[in-house]
Amino acid sequence: MAGLGDLAAAGLALTIEDAVATVTLSRPERRNAMTPSMWHGLARIGRAVPANVRVVIIRGAGPSFSAGIDLRMFSADGVPGEERTTNPSDPGFDESIAGLQAGYTWLRNPAFVSIAAVQGHAIGAGFQLALSCDLRVLADDAKLCMKEPALGLVPDLTGTKPLVDIVGLPRAIELCLTARTVSADEAWQLRLAELVVPVAELEAAVSDLVAALLSTDMAAARATKALLALAAGNSLAEQAAAERLAQAKLLAARSQR
Ligand code: ACO
Repeated sequence: MAGLGDLAAAGLALTIEDAVATVTLSRPERRNAMTPSMWHGLARIGRAVPANVRVVIIRGAGPSFSAGIDLRMFSADGVPGEERTTNPSDPGFDESIAGLQAGYTWLRNPAFVSIAAVQGHAIGAGFQLALSCDLRVLADDAKLCMKEPALGLVPDLTGTKPLVDIVGLPRAIELCLTARTVSADEAWQLRLAELVVPVAELEAAVSDLVAALLSTDMAAARATKALLALAAGNSLAEQAAAERLAQAKLLAARSQR
């Protein structure tokens, strides 16, 4: 596929089988620690997803989903081959972080449903990646942690909105400002997981979910995801109008086939 660049060098692998794209964070020896190359690679994948893809799975190789930012980024030497963290006084600072966030925001595209398959640790930037997916399937050994405030940072990879949307503001404050670890059991209670399964069954559980998602009509599924995403920001009247419009567009497109 054009425009993907060197994904392996970015610590990523991509496979596409029919309507299912699987993105694997592939730096297991570092627990899939993330670098700007990886975030830019994710953004390139987001821009290149073929139009027929209906499900995107994000998974991590090895025992952890992702240990978050590669901590060497904070050292004087940095990570070989990686861009240095920009200085906030640099006029390009905002744009630079926006470029990294693009590695996350594409997962909300209504063309497909994104699923995070999470085993082991999902820390900081890794937890935010799981939060950026529409659905989370957790292995029972999953450990989620928003570590940024403990390191003197704010979470800035688009994880704060989905976290608040899912767990509510008080719990989001508590989780972030204590930087404590959430077990799979608690994640289930907090609705941070759609499903929790034994670690050996994670892949099969995701496959079952994918099969169920592919069983519905493609155009209806895409229009419904787009509609649901509007609901939180709409009044009942606005959402009712959005439903009417979406239905009209869907049926009109079908009648033209
Ligand atoms: N950055 C760079 N290297 C890492 C990272 C990381 N975030 N996480 C793990 N590694 C490396 C370790 O240094 C180690 O390397 P080595 O084999 O050369 O010593 C290797 O990955 C394996 O890590 P272990 O700690 O031995 O693995 P374990 O399974 O015992 O622990 C855990 C995993 C809990 C994830 C631990 O590695 C950890 O706490 N990592 C740091 C997590 C962190 O603070 N991330 C930053 C979050 S904030 C943000 O993302 C913005």
